[in-house]
Amino acid sequence: MSTCESRTIWWDDGLWLIDQTKLPGELVPVRILSVKQLVNAIRALQIRGAPALGAAGAYGIALAADLSSATSAQDLILELETAAQMLKGSRPTAINLSWGVDRAVRSAANGETAEEVREAALREAEEIAEEDIRINRALGRNGAKLLEDGDSVLTHCNAGRLACVGWGTALGVIRSAAEAGKRIHVYACETRPLYQGSRLTAWELAQDGIEVTLICDSMSGSLMRKGMIDKAIVGADRITKDAVFNKIGTYNHAVLARFHRIPFYVAAPLSTFDPKHQEEEITVEERDPEEICTFGGTRLAPEGIDVYNPAFDATPLELVTGLITEKGVFRPPLMPPI
Ligand code: MRU
Repeated sequence: MSTCESRTIWWDDGLWLIDQTKLPGELVPVRILSVKQLVNAIRALQIRGAPALGAAGAYGIALAADLSSATSAQDLILELETAAQMLKGSRPTAINLSWGVDRAVRSAANGETAEEVREAALREAEEIAEEDIRINRALGRNGAKLLEDGDSVLTHCNAGRLACVGWGTALGVIRSAAEAGKRIHVYACETRPLYQGSRLTAWELAQDGIEVTLICDSMSGSLMRKGMIDKAIVGADRITKDAVFNKIGTYNHAVLARFHRIPFYVAAPLSTFDPKHQEEEITVEERDPEEICTFGGTRLAPEGIDVYNPAFDATPLELVTGLITEKGVFRPPLMPPI
């Protein structure tokens, strides 16, 4: 049995996740009772971050199987394929979501009876969740070697344990360095418009006792110019053969880091790589204009104003110093073998 103390998503006689929209105020577990509720939770960012979405997709298939009254394997698999389409359609950019869904459906399809299909789907989801923590630990160890005692590290959005099942990718590297006895100071960008940096990254690091200073996204260049940043590390939602897709604003930091000759690292598991595609083929999610125009019920912009609200941007690989993975650190144009 897992709890919200150790994981962001877990199965305990049903599907549970931490509602990330309630943080940093409350650490609240939510029981997910239907695939539709999970789709809405993914869209609302109750669960978010590429690796966490991979696990959520797989658990979504296990949930669909658990709730179904189908008595034959064939009927149940047909239902799982419908659930898979719903889950994959919930957010388009992070490749881990469809990767997790497909893995669970593939495993479930090996079942010869409805009961075997149910067991296989849940077993695969649990395996993906366990594996996520193991992989992040390995990735963290590989990345920690790049950090020196006393480094100040810039990060954007939340690529921590909340964005995964546990440990984290970019923050996992920082955690592993801290665990190895290095003193790391993190500058966390607040991450407009939904504040994953201030609400989640700052909260996680403070909980761990890692030094963290919160800054506005637009401050990164000025801090770099003043020599306050030694390295930048971010996570990724998808890495194509030519670009890293991550939270909107990442590209700005990467350009600024190159100008100031600061190493810019991307930490991601192999499940985030999409080597068959290139930047222009990827759909970038566009979100509700209200996310920019209001916050917490307060209006921040005139009613009816035109808004553009892409959730992610693409950073060309030529701006990336190293891709930190569970298989080692790859310096573009070198890519991990997949
Ligand atoms: O919209 P979000 O909060 O799901 O965006 C998340 C990010 O952009 C993360 O940086 C990315 O998923 C990497 S998480 C390890």
